[in-house]
Amino acid sequence: MFTHTPEDVLKVATLLNEGDVVALPTETVYGLAADAMNENAVRRIFTIKGRPLIDPLIVHIYEFAQLSYLVRQLPEVVEVLAEAFWPGPLTLVLPKADCVPDIVTAGKPSVAIRMPAHPAMRDVLRACARPLAAPSANPFGYVSPTTAQHVVDSLGDRVPFVLDDGPCSSGLESTILSLLPPEPVILRPGPLSADAISKAFRRPIPIANSKPANTKPAESESQLAPGMLGKHYSPHTSVHLFSADAPPNADADAVILWQQTPEPEILDTPGQHYWLSDDGDPNEVARQLFAILRKLDQLEPRMIYVEMAPESELSSAINDRLRRAANK
Ligand code: TXA
Ligand code: MG
Repeated sequence: MFTHTPEDVLKVATLLNEGDVVALPTETVYGLAADAMNENAVRRIFTIKGRPLIDPLIVHIYEFAQLSYLVRQLPEVVEVLAEAFWPGPLTLVLPKADCVPDIVTAGKPSVAIRMPAHPAMRDVLRACARPLAAPSANPFGYVSPTTAQHVVDSLGDRVPFVLDDGPCSSGLESTILSLLPPEPVILRPGPLSADAISKAFRRPIPIANSKPANTKPAESESQLAPGMLGKHYSPHTSVHLFSADAPPNADADAVILWQQTPEPEILDTPGQHYWLSDDGDPNEVARQLFAILRKLDQLEPRMIYVEMAPESELSSAINDRLRRAANK
């Protein structure tokens, strides 16, 4: 296990430059990284995750200048977005340059790129001086990891190296914004809200197939972002969502609440109650969500009941992940 020291950053950069795969922290979730220009290294990511080759990866960059050789045509708005939101949890889908290996983009003519903000990730990106392809460091379809221990718990010996720099500060995967024609569209809601993006564009930018929190993602959505299959981010235990005004039955043995409830009798159940925040702060909820889902999954209750997010800047991202976790 590596940590965020100058010596370890150099060792990790050397491993990556030699074609190894390393799990690295980002501000969103832990990623499973390899040199994006090294086809064999990237192939190992797919093998380790058990990820189908039709599901493209995000390429992580250190600085804006790297865009010019990864992207065929840079729309002007990219500069505005980068100025406002990079480094940070925003991934842009852009027309790919020929040099980006097809395995990274699953043969698509576009490439997803983000500039992460996490200090350890940035140090590694700078030290290895090349873009890194990195999906979330979990087995395909399972809940994303927000600590190094999560990575080890679910990938075990399959992941050769891990850099541990504590829990992720955001806890939800990045917002994915497609800038391909005909119009910009948010493919995956995330920590950066649709409102913030719309302000940068000075017009509303839609979320693809956005719909009420308790409905299933549409089939067409998986075509837009191929990895965004309906069932994704799922624990092994079945997940059932509820809203605050319709709490689960009395026999529920694992109930996750949005916040610590001041009046426990509101939920008249004998089961174990957990909460995602002390006071309902959505940022805290986002940070805790995947850790609590993973923890409860290990306890193997019959069903995990989760309260859906009330309206906030983060609610579309949080409810999107909950819907997917609950999708059968
Ligand atoms: O926060 C994050 O984005 C994390 C950290 C590690 O950076 N990464 C992450 O990667 O969540 P992953 O592979 O778990 O999710 C990336 C999503 C997938 O649903 C994939 O289908 C989509 O991005 N994607 C990648 N390239 C795409 C492209 N060219 N067009 C449309 N969707 C794309
Ligand atoms: Mg993922």
